[in-house]
Order: sequence, then C-alpha cells, then structure tokens
Amino acid sequence: MDERIFLSTPHMCGKEMGYIEEAFQTNWIAPLGKNVTEFENEICQTTGANYAIAMSAGTAALHMALRFLEVGPGDIVFCSSMTFAASCNPIVYQGGTPVFIDSEPGSWNMSPKALRKAFQKYPKPKAVVVVNLYGQSADYDEILSITREYGVPVVEDAAESLGATYKEQMTGTIGDFGVLSFNGNKIITTSGGGMLLCKTEEEKAKILKWITQARDPARHYQHSELGYNYRMSNICAGIGRGQLTALSDRVAKKTEIYHTYEQAFSDIDVTMMPVCDYGVPSFWLSCMTIKGVNPVSVMEALEAQNIESRPIWKPMHLQPYYSECDYFMHDEDVSKSIFETGICLPSDTKMTKEQQNRVIEIIKAQF
Ligand SMILES: Cc1ncc(COP(=O)(O)O)c(C=O)c1O
Repeated sequence: MDERIFLSTPHMCGKEMGYIEEAFQTNWIAPLGKNVTEFENEICQTTGANYAIAMSAGTAALHMALRFLEVGPGDIVFCSSMTFAASCNPIVYQGGTPVFIDSEPGSWNMSPKALRKAFQKYPKPKAVVVVNLYGQSADYDEILSITREYGVPVVEDAAESLGATYKEQMTGTIGDFGVLSFNGNKIITTSGGGMLLCKTEEEKAKILKWITQARDPARHYQHSELGYNYRMSNICAGIGRGQLTALSDRVAKKTEIYHTYEQAFSDIDVTMMPVCDYGVPSFWLSCMTIKGVNPVSVMEALEAQNIESRPIWKPMHLQPYYSECDYFMHDEDVSKSIFETGICLPSDTKMTKEQQNRVIEIIKAQF
C-alpha cells in the first residue's frame, strides 16, 4: 500500500527546534517566557493586529472574546452554521444561546441576507461570530454594514484563515476580536494553541488576567473574578515562531494544490469552493461539491487507496446538540446542500505532485 496521503497535517520547517532549545537551555518551560511574548509580537507584525494574546487553543480565544463582550445567560449570539462546533460551543460555555446563520453560495461564508433576517427577529444579539471557512474570508463590508446598523460587535473566527486577506487586510483583524488556531491540522501549528487578536491594551490586560487564573495584585492568592488556565506554553510558542517563518510558503503550496485540482477537474461535474475577488484565500483546505456522484463513494474510493478526505463541516443547525436553536436561511438551505454534496480534498503541504496526481486519478475514475 502506498504511503498515506493526509488531509492536512503538521509540517515543520526546521526553525522550530532553535526556539525550543533556547527555552530548554534557559529553563523557560512555562506558560510564559520570551517565545510567548515574541510569538505574539510576530503575529501582530504578520497580521497587522494591534494586540495578540497567545492561548492554549482557538476555542479558548473564542471563549474569552465572548466573556469580554459579557455574553451571559439569556443572551443570543449569532454564529455561522457551516463551521466546526468550536465556533459556537463557547457561546454555551457562557450560558448564551446560539442562533445560526446560513451560508451564501458565492463564498460558503455567512450570508448577509440571512443575517439581516436574523436581526429582524432578534435585533439585540450580544455578538455575531463570523467564520472564515476553509481559508477564505467572509464578505465583511456587507456583514459589518448590518452589524454596525444594530450596534453589535463581531468576533471573527479566523481559525482556518491565517494568511488570507479581505480587501488587502489580513483576516483575523477585521472583526472587533479575531481568533486564530494553531491546532495540528491548521496552516501553521503549535501542536495545539490559539491566539486572540484585539484592538486595545485594556482588552489585552483584562483577558490576560482571566487566562492566567485571574489573580488580583496581592501578595497572597486573591481572586475577585473567575479565572481560567488558558495561557500558551513557552514551548508551544517556540514551535509557533518557527512555523510562522514558513507561513507564506505554506499559503503558496496550498494555493498551488487548489489550482491543480481546479484545472484537473475542469472536465468533470464538480464545482470547486468559489473564490471571491474581494480577497485572497489561504486555501487551507481545497473543497468542492459534486453532482451526479455520491461524495461518500468518492471518499471511500480514496480511503481504499489510503488517502484521507473528509465531508464538509456538518452545519450546526443540523447537529443533534443544537437542534433546538433557531436558524436563518439564505433562500434555500445553502449550508445543508453544500454539506450533502461536498468533500474536503487532501490539502497537505507535504503532498508531492505525484501524490496529488494519484488523488486526481482516483477521483476522476468515479465519474
Ligand atoms: C472554524 C474553527 N473555529 C475554531 C476552531 C478551534 O480551534 P482550536 O482547535 O485551536 O481550539 C477550529 C479548529 O479547530 C475551527 O476550524
């Protein structure tokens, strides 16, 4: 059997060990240290964010953004439906109630039309979580024109879109808060980790206190607020600093992978995830929808050849846990139809040209 071809796995560039060794040699094996501080600075330089807070996960970053926005019991928070559960679970951690918003067919991201319908029924949600799916930005001019009208803050879930831009601005810096993930499957990884991007020093100071157990400035251990253990370790941050030097190479390779699929599939009945001209995606995962052939049979044919592929995220409004939540559609249920006909293709940056050609051959043989 040929070597397994993966969807998207960690890809070290060689610079990571230097930062980790320095941490070992100086005994900074803690959730603080030079790597943590410098990784935050370097993420700010790369993205143009004002402030960045390194955390143990992107999910923790989402949680803290919602806590800062004072989401609590009885509050409604709008969230893209077609996403990973981590985008909306923190709404429930805070006691809030998610209301899900459909995708638009042109970008697969939050539909401004569905968002407007949601505001007509619920004019005072506490926040809107907008997800940039599979490495492509949502259409923020449209979305922000609605959220500003109602005076509601936006949390930009850019866990999947580090390296992508919207109108020349890096994703993660467009919403009031931006969330990055460095989980093992992301475009760069710290093995596990995340980052919250924010606008002001006051936001950073408050959130930094919460994620380090909310100790008051006293000699003894005193807590006047609820805290969390959400800080990133200095070792993980060292991996991140090395990885960040390879971000543009990873985006270039992911872009090449997408365009190779696009060209190869031009003569079969598939539609690649649309690319919007308002920005430049990072192409974290190459995805497509299929007509006439069941996507499950394509995934099974790939798996039989030791190749990993995945379904598109099952929308949150179709998840048993969230089945009671309200949902606003674009026209028809766009996210449901993308889920039913879609597939995420192997997009691993370590994949060779020959391996990708093998993936393409197997898929084309199904049509
Ligand atoms: C859209 C989205 N949001 C949030 C997360 C959560 O990030 P993490 O795994 O770092 O907690 C992920 C991925 O894991 C994601 O894909």
